Amino acid sequence: MKIDYQEPSKDLLMRIDIHEKYGSANIDVWTNDLLKPQAGMKILDVGCGAGKLCFLFNEYTKGGAQITGGDFSNELLDKAREKNKNTGANIDFQFLDFNQPFNFADNTFDLCTSAFAIYYASDLDFTFGEAHRVLNPGGRLFVSGPLPENKQMFYDIIKEATGAAIPPMPGSSRFKGDIFNTIDGIFAKTELHKFENHLTFP
Ligand SMILES: C[S@@+](CC[C@H](N)C(=O)[O-])C[C@H]1O[C@@H](n2cnc3c(N)ncnc32)[C@H](O)[C@@H]1O
Repeated sequence: MKIDYQEPSKDLLMRIDIHEKYGSANIDVWTNDLLKPQAGMKILDVGCGAGKLCFLFNEYTKGGAQITGGDFSNELLDKAREKNKNTGANIDFQFLDFNQPFNFADNTFDLCTSAFAIYYASDLDFTFGEAHRVLNPGGRLFVSGPLPENKQMFYDIIKEATGAAIPPMPGSSRFKGDIFNTIDGIFAKTELHKFENHLTFP
């Protein structure tokens, strides 16, 4: 499937900021509670953007994990590298296009994550096959993204506010369907966890 839509970096950073300011729950706490990354682990974050998840895991493990963040946006990688330098973290940020073979040997990582990114993958079997290949036996894959219910609410709000419908975007509808099913077909065990975060604007 060819995916034509890409959210601009500026919009992404603004959206993250809105969730941080007006959300009632904290997705970072939720993610760490779920994954419990440990010092000594090797972690790959795919579609890392400005490195949000990488820095989260780095802080949680007190710098004890070996973390790699990969993204195909040089603009976002630069932001991540800048923060890496400014905070004294030791995360390896490198170019990675998840529609191409990952530049890592088989059985390299204990945990592979991808937050709100993997739904842009054009060939899910290929991308998740790569994630499986670079994971150690017993390694874990974590992917997060919106479910169809979120998008419906999003469409409804925009329609109510503007009187105009927005064109459909790829992403959420893939998560419950072909993304879940593809992972389920490749990995030994698959679980679906729901994170709910209500935004309240003052
Ligand atoms: C919504 S952002 C999420 C960024 C980050 N994971 C976070 O949670 O802040 C989606 C990310 O996917 C990246 N992306 C989209 N297509 C990609 C591809 N083919 N290969 C690697 N990264 C990609 C974008 O550059 C962007 O950083």
